[in-house]
Amino acid sequence: MSIIYHKETKVFHLHNDAVSYIMMVLPNGQMGHLYYGKKIHDREDFGDLLETAPRPMSSCTFEGNKAFSLEHIKQELPVYGTGDYRSPAVEVIQENGSRISDFQYHSHHVEAGKPELSGLPATYVEDSGEAETLVLNLYDSVTGIWAEVFYTIFSQRPVLTRSVRYINNGNRPVQLGRAMSLCLDLPDCAYDWVQFSGAWARERHVKTRRLTMGVQSVGSMRGNSSHEHNPFLILKRPDTGEQQGEALGFSFVYSGNFLMQAEVDAHDNTRVLVGIHPDTFAWHLEPEESFQTPEAVMVYTDSGLNHMSQTFHQLFQKRLARGYWRDRVRPILINNWEATYFDFTEDKLIHIAKKAKECGVELFVLDDGWFGARSNDFAGLGDWVVNTDRLANGITGLAERMEQTGMKFGLWFEPEMVNKDSDLYRSHPDWILQVPGRANTHGRNQYVLDFSRKEVVDCIFEMMAKILREAKVSYIKWDMNRSITECFSPAYGPKRQGEIFHRYILGVYDLYDRLTREFPRVLFESCASGGGRFDPGILYYAPQGWASDNSDAVERMKIQYGTSMCYPVSSMGSHVSVIPNHQMFRNTPLHTRANVAYFGTFGYELDLNKLTEEEIEEVKEQIAFMKEYRDLLQFGTFYRLKSPFEGNEMAWMAVSEDRKTAVVGWYRILNVVNDRFTRVKLQGLDENFCYENSRDGSRVYGDELMNLGLNTSDATAGQTPDDQVPCTDFESRIYILKAVERVEA
Ligand code: DGJ
Repeated sequence: MSIIYHKETKVFHLHNDAVSYIMMVLPNGQMGHLYYGKKIHDREDFGDLLETAPRPMSSCTFEGNKAFSLEHIKQELPVYGTGDYRSPAVEVIQENGSRISDFQYHSHHVEAGKPELSGLPATYVEDSGEAETLVLNLYDSVTGIWAEVFYTIFSQRPVLTRSVRYINNGNRPVQLGRAMSLCLDLPDCAYDWVQFSGAWARERHVKTRRLTMGVQSVGSMRGNSSHEHNPFLILKRPDTGEQQGEALGFSFVYSGNFLMQAEVDAHDNTRVLVGIHPDTFAWHLEPEESFQTPEAVMVYTDSGLNHMSQTFHQLFQKRLARGYWRDRVRPILINNWEATYFDFTEDKLIHIAKKAKECGVELFVLDDGWFGARSNDFAGLGDWVVNTDRLANGITGLAERMEQTGMKFGLWFEPEMVNKDSDLYRSHPDWILQVPGRANTHGRNQYVLDFSRKEVVDCIFEMMAKILREAKVSYIKWDMNRSITECFSPAYGPKRQGEIFHRYILGVYDLYDRLTREFPRVLFESCASGGGRFDPGILYYAPQGWASDNSDAVERMKIQYGTSMCYPVSSMGSHVSVIPNHQMFRNTPLHTRANVAYFGTFGYELDLNKLTEEEIEEVKEQIAFMKEYRDLLQFGTFYRLKSPFEGNEMAWMAVSEDRKTAVVGWYRILNVVNDRFTRVKLQGLDENFCYENSRDGSRVYGDELMNLGLNTSDATAGQTPDDQVPCTDFESRIYILKAVERVEA
């Protein structure tokens, strides 16, 4: 039993072997929060954890009682305006202008398993024994609004999820001004705040600062989860590292505007809020209508950041991603974008594909430019019909030729966008998001289709499905190359304009849903100018995403390292591209470009015909290596060992489930002359196994590799020994460790 209810004291205790989450019905009928953290023993009455004491100048609920003040009490669904001055979890705007509500406990039930969230991505279970869900029914009697708060605790994972459904059971309409998915009040603020931020081509860099009094937040109001901030947040104790210490991870299963906030009050309590960004949201609820928030996921660990990340990786890999590709190693692909940009013909593509096939590549992906009048970024978006001037045999013919070369075929789409120079726009100029009478902002010369409207999504679906029905397409890259502006839909009345951002994302999910249902074998890779929509919401539909438009090996170290804090290696699209690199103009060795890309889905983004014979031999070896180890790399246990944010070296590794094989990636940004001897302490090995090192044949026990470390020194010291290739900048190595014998402890 993982959910206990103490009837007398009205205490709820959700727990598994790792974590406890405790709350109770407060004397005012609302839900109070008592504890979240490492599992603790149950007891009948946890009321003392409320920590109420009379404080001068506090706003209090009961006359004559100076101790019960919402200002200080930890709560589950707090509102503003009745004593609590912190940011609230919900705001109900009523016809008389009042924003005050009072959600009181009415009843609850416990379900085995985990209910689906209609129309929204969410984690799931395959067997009802995997989780238990508590549904609290809270009621605001003045408005007649119900709040159903869903808490799911997984039995074998230190994972809790939460979402809320609001139902208008009253007889007057209301507006939800905010509807956060998660509210967690913590009793102290001794945390580091870790966010994953950046910009186009430098996404998800790890940024850490001390949590401090006041409000700190990250979010997006761009319509997508964004390059700038990721819907993932860690609060960790200052001494928590990769291998040890307490951390809380918060992830939001959503791809649109979000807010993640921590507010530290004057008494060092911390309120964490996660949800749809309230500044771009308002939802009108007529009587009998309901609104479901997306899901937030919480992970607690006392075993360090690697453990927290591994928990997210396993959850997202096995219980968020779905379908045919969920558990399958990903095809090694070649994408023509950086090889040709818009300048290609069918023969040119076949020429690239043939060389790739010769090297062992499995999938050819045709990127932007195959449709409509698309010869540059001014035209064609929205016309998902092949341009036969360029591809005379159509997509069907090209896909057929690719299959004949022995390759699978994949295709790029940008379903949500339109150029004004397109047949779609000319027929439906009213189908874009736009404010009547006002100018429209463009991004990359394109405009955003109004995906809040079913007829728009229907039309795009039909165009895409026609191609997928006719041609042998095994993979789709779904791009999204601008943020949303002028988010107004002429199809909705004034009361509903605050809903458009969310309705838009629901339209995106609907299109994904229809396509993945009809074409379950097609592998979807999400993309938004690289990593602008790399979030758990999209992972539900597309098990991998193009992590960044930046394919430079050095930049990718930081991007993939930061991304790995939450997302599994199997989700990170990563390719080897040309030098000088197209984003950084940097030259890195071919082996380093591959050594970084191995820790991802792996592919090439160049014309292999332009490589030397020697390089082609190296590429063949890379592909053979990836085919042998991709299962381990993509689905093994991943450990970060050395951070590129903290020095000149980076290291990470993946370990097989039986711990008999490990692949270690070691990377050094700039060469160091006459350096010290260097070692990297490994993780996750069996201390009693003796491992053979693929680089030098040495045999060392797991305990030594984990406690003393793997020797990564090179002996050049500014000179080149006769028997060694000299190292230079951007050096990297892959070490394969295989267990050869086991001793008893
Ligand atoms: C942005 C993507 O991130 C690139 O990989 C490429 O697909 C271009 N769009 C095509 O326009």
